[in-house]
Formats: sequence, structure tokens, C-alpha cells
Amino acid sequence: MLKIMQSDESKIWSLDEVLSGCDWNDQAVAVGAGLGLSNLGFVETFESSETEIKLSSEGLSAIENGLLEARLWNWISTSNSPDMASLQQSFERHEAGPGVGLLKRMGVILEAGKFSAKDPKSVEETISMRSEFLSRLPAKASSLNNELLEHFRGRKGFIESHDTTTRTWKITSQGLSIPEDLLVEKEMVSEITTELLQSENWRNAEFRAFDVTLESATPRTGRSHPMQALIERIRNIFLEMGFSELVEDYVQTAGWNMDALFIPQDHPAREMQDTFYLDNPSEMVLPDEIMELWSEIHTSGGDTGSVGWGGNFSKEISQKGLLRTHTTVNTIQYLAENPSKACRMFTVDRVFRKEAIDRTHLPEFHQIEGIIMEEGANLQMLVTTLKTFYEKMGYPEVRVRPAYFPYTEPSLEIEVKWRGKWLELGGAGIFRPEVTEPLGITHPVLAWGMGLERLAMLVLGLDDIRQLYISDLEWLRNQPII
Ligand code: PHE
Repeated sequence: MLKIMQSDESKIWSLDEVLSGCDWNDQAVAVGAGLGLSNLGFVETFESSETEIKLSSEGLSAIENGLLEARLWNWISTSNSPDMASLQQSFERHEAGPGVGLLKRMGVILEAGKFSAKDPKSVEETISMRSEFLSRLPAKASSLNNELLEHFRGRKGFIESHDTTTRTWKITSQGLSIPEDLLVEKEMVSEITTELLQSENWRNAEFRAFDVTLESATPRTGRSHPMQALIERIRNIFLEMGFSELVEDYVQTAGWNMDALFIPQDHPAREMQDTFYLDNPSEMVLPDEIMELWSEIHTSGGDTGSVGWGGNFSKEISQKGLLRTHTTVNTIQYLAENPSKACRMFTVDRVFRKEAIDRTHLPEFHQIEGIIMEEGANLQMLVTTLKTFYEKMGYPEVRVRPAYFPYTEPSLEIEVKWRGKWLELGGAGIFRPEVTEPLGITHPVLAWGMGLERLAMLVLGLDDIRQLYISDLEWLRNQPII
């Protein structure tokens, strides 16, 4: 490197020029050699850093479809009745809310039920400046308007920055003073490889000293996916609270998934459009005795004092194969096998429902299910258990509200306060006699089933559930340790 530099003493050498001049093809070698030479005072190194700003997913979609505020403003300025209700009809909820927020900050007001702006020109100017900013990307941060840059930095998923360092070198008089014939090219070993050790070459090799004080790139290590980490944390909390884990198959019968839970055979949630029934196995044989029990309960209430649902009970329907729609199918089977042993069980596992995919729904998701069966178990205990769980998760404000499930009485909805709002996270209740008596269970059973993805959205601060599963490496790397 010094030799080529001596060929032109006033030149400032770029990395590319050094690489081609020395016949090297490895940047790291050139940078390392340059560093060695500058430590000896033979060359001077100049370094400059630049940040490049690129579009991220939201930014790209804004380029394609227009900025949200631009689309909303366009709608407001062309609509005959620019009011909230018609805006909500023209835009989806996840756009309308944040969009109105953006516009308000730009001076749009909602007065007498209608949107308008005191200074429409300035709204338009802001919008066009923002669009123009995005259309210039990718660009160097230093060439961009700082205020707009900060604005988009504050909006999730719009832009990303990449730092690059540019180095150039110039020979010093000390470097020039070294006689050319002293400069011989010598290969030095910087990495000891198996090949080197196996060959005899290491005997005569010269080794380059490491400078351990130099800065280097932080190695990227593996880490758990945030969902997996969250599951682990939930597991630990339940184990700590004295629960045992239940892990079961997600291929189940309609009988255990629904009949055992006193869900009537004509319940709408059983329809093909809500449940994934299987072609293989389309049917799974169940013991006749258990189906007889369910049949009696469903048609007449058996000995429970209930009158049942009436109508007919089909064993064919019971034996249909499906993908479980809730993990309650597993806790109820556990109880059927262990009807008299007091227990505290939990499971965090996958369930399936035919949902259209959107910001808050997926056809495949997870539930946090649990039961407590013991003498004297009561509603207060159920509420306290759920409160304790959410408190340990970091959400101390929990409330329950009356709800309805065919298999519990009373039934509850569990809500957690997050950023000032109550969010529904799951259902709970005490199993009805129609569920417990045919299985020979005598103690009360407290049960709950809560959404894991919903909780993940709170923990990770997400507004779109799909983010959890799109394998966006950049996002995954930046997630906090849960
Ligand atoms: N299985 C219910 C659901 O999927 C939740 C639930 C579980 C409700 C246990 C009550 C008791 O939403």
C-alpha cells in the first residue's frame, strides 16, 4: 500500500483506488493495512461518516398510495359532507383515527360536525413538502430537511437510516522517506485456519498482531423470537403460581371441542365459515358411552337439573375432525381423565378459526388457557388469579365484566387497562354442571382462555398483529428483551 502511495505523493487515495492499486479484493485488508501504516505515522487517514436515509415499508406504501394525510385531505376537500361519520365509511378504522390526528396537527379542525381548515393552503403545502421529501429517498441525511427528517423518524416504519464511513489516505513525509527497495510485499497471517495448521505453511508464516483496542462491528447473536420469549415468560409465571403445563394435539373432534362444553350442535360458531373442519381425518371415532352422555345432556339436561337444548343430538357431528378452535378442548379432556384430583393446569398453545386476516385478526393464533379445580374454588379466586397473572405481566389494572359462554356460569370478560383504555383480553368463568357432571367432576372448576397475540400487542406496543409473523429481521433485531 505504501509503495503505490509513493507513486503519487500528493494524492488522496480512496478505498477503491487502494484496492485496485494493490490487487486486493478485500476491503477489510485495505482498511487494516491503512490502520497499521497510520499507527506507524506513514500515512494519514481521513474518515467521514454519512447517514443514508431509505424508505421503509410504510414509506414505500405512501409513495405508492399517497400519504395518509394526503388521502384524507383530498377526501375532505372534495367531499360534499366532510363529517366524521362519512369519513369513517370511506376509510378503515386504523386509518381514520391516526389520519385525523395527523390532520389536526396540521391545522384541520372539526367544527359543527364538519372538517375544515383555517388555512387550506398551508395544509396543502405541508402535505406536498412531506410527499416531496419521501420521493427524494434514498438520500444522504445531510442533504435533507432536518425538520421533515425528524417528522418521519417519529412515524413508525416510514424511513430507516444506515450509517456508512468513508476513509481516504494520504502518504506522510515519513512514509515517503522510506526507500522503495525496502518495501517488499509480504503476506501475513491474520487468521489461523485448519488448512493453515494442516499444511506446513504455518512454520514460516508471519503473523499479524491484533490491535484489540480497535472498534469493530458488534457480532449479531441469535435470540428468541419475541413471541417465543413471551410464551416463556407466561409459562414461568404460571409455573411460579403452582400450575402444571398441559401440551396436547390441535387435531380434535367436534365432540370434545364443542359437545363436551355444552355448545349446542346448531351454534353458529360451529359452521364451516368459522371452524376449520378436516378432510383427513374427517372423522375420529369416539366411545359410544361418552357420546351418549353428551346426547342426554344436550337433549334433556340429564341429571343436572338443566333442561338441555332440546332437539336432536348427532353422534356423526360429534366425531367430525377439526382444528381446535380453543384450548378449552384440552383442559376439558384433562378433567375427563382426572375427574376427582384437585388440579391447577395451564396451556399456551395454538388455535385456529376461519378469520379474515386484518390488523387484529389471524386464522391461527394462541390462547393462554387455564383451570383450577378444587374444593371450594369460587369466583373471587378466579378473579384474583387472573389479576395476579396480569400484574406479574406488568398490567396491574384489570377488571372483569359479565359475559356469556355456553359452558360457564357465571361468565366473565377480562379487561386490562393499557394507555388509558380498557382492552378485552379473554374470557373466563366457572364450568356449568352440564359440562362437569357427565364427566364425574364434583369440585368447582374455574376456567379461562385469553388471547396471547392481543397481549403481545400490548407488550410490544404493536398496532398490527401481522407484524409478529412477517419475519421482518430489522424489526425482530430491535425488539426489547421480554
Ligand atoms: N374458550 C373461550 C374462547 O375461546 C374462552 C374461555 C375459556 C371462556 C374458558 C370461559 C372459560 O374465547
